[in-house]
Amino acid sequence: KRIARRWPANHACGKRGSYEYYLNMGERLDKFRRDGFLVLEGFNSDDQCDELMARAAELAAEFDYDGHPSVFQTSEQDRTSDEYFLDSGGRISFFFEQDAFDANGKLTSDIHHSLNKIGHALHDLDPVYNRFSRSPQMQQLTADLEMSGSVLIQSMHIFKHAEIGGVVDVHQDSTFLFTRPLSCVGFWFALEDATTENGCLWATPGGHKTTLRSWFKRKPGGGTEFEVFDDSPFDLDAVIPLEVKKGTCIVLDGLLPHYSMPNTSHRSRQAYTLHSIDPTAEYPLENWLQRPLT
Ligand code: FE2
Repeated sequence: KRIARRWPANHACGKRGSYEYYLNMGERLDKFRRDGFLVLEGFNSDDQCDELMARAAELAAEFDYDGHPSVFQTSEQDRTSDEYFLDSGGRISFFFEQDAFDANGKLTSDIHHSLNKIGHALHDLDPVYNRFSRSPQMQQLTADLEMSGSVLIQSMHIFKHAEIGGVVDVHQDSTFLFTRPLSCVGFWFALEDATTENGCLWATPGGHKTTLRSWFKRKPGGGTEFEVFDDSPFDLDAVIPLEVKKGTCIVLDGLLPHYSMPNTSHRSRQAYTLHSIDPTAEYPLENWLQRPLT
């Protein structure tokens, strides 16, 4: 018999509860293991989402842009292999949309509306992101998924602005956060409603039951490269759009292939993502993301 289970009374999540919101912990874990992802509607309140978007706008306003942009594109990783990108693992760094510049290399909008994302240590360096990343519901969720010992290693605020928010090609998160054994788990928080119009995530239920295709790593002489383990294409015949409401958390297995389309709508699709790993797994020095030693 199913036992309804609610968050603690002092929990700050929204009122919109889906069926999954009330799953007991065994069902939640079983579903995650079966599908490779888990959609938790009402995980964060509208206020919590608004606070993060306001903080991102503040950080963008404070960003001292020197005219040398780092552009983020997963489709051309060599363009994101510059020093600014490789140093961003322990910083709050700003990455522009490719389409934010005119033919002369000048921004066509203000900095905030030209950004693709901010990353990759927001969760440790900024108090607002730290609070969101280590909320009571996050602690409860990681306990439910039997990963209380995991560590948050990387975070990104993704803007996906109206009309210029770019594509994110199909990938597995373990390609970018590789450990031996594999242990990457992603948390994707919808800060605004995400639909097929404004570039929601797409994934295949059960799609994580496959091999890791590649490893994005630092090259010995500088820059980055992909080491290919398996060059077979992803099977995307049964892929579905994960259209979710503001406040939803989607948990993603590191092996689950997923992608998002460009935002061609007039509404932004802001999201915040966190990635965790098992600290007892080996974290190779070749991984692109390295945290400075303190
Ligand atoms: Fe991803």
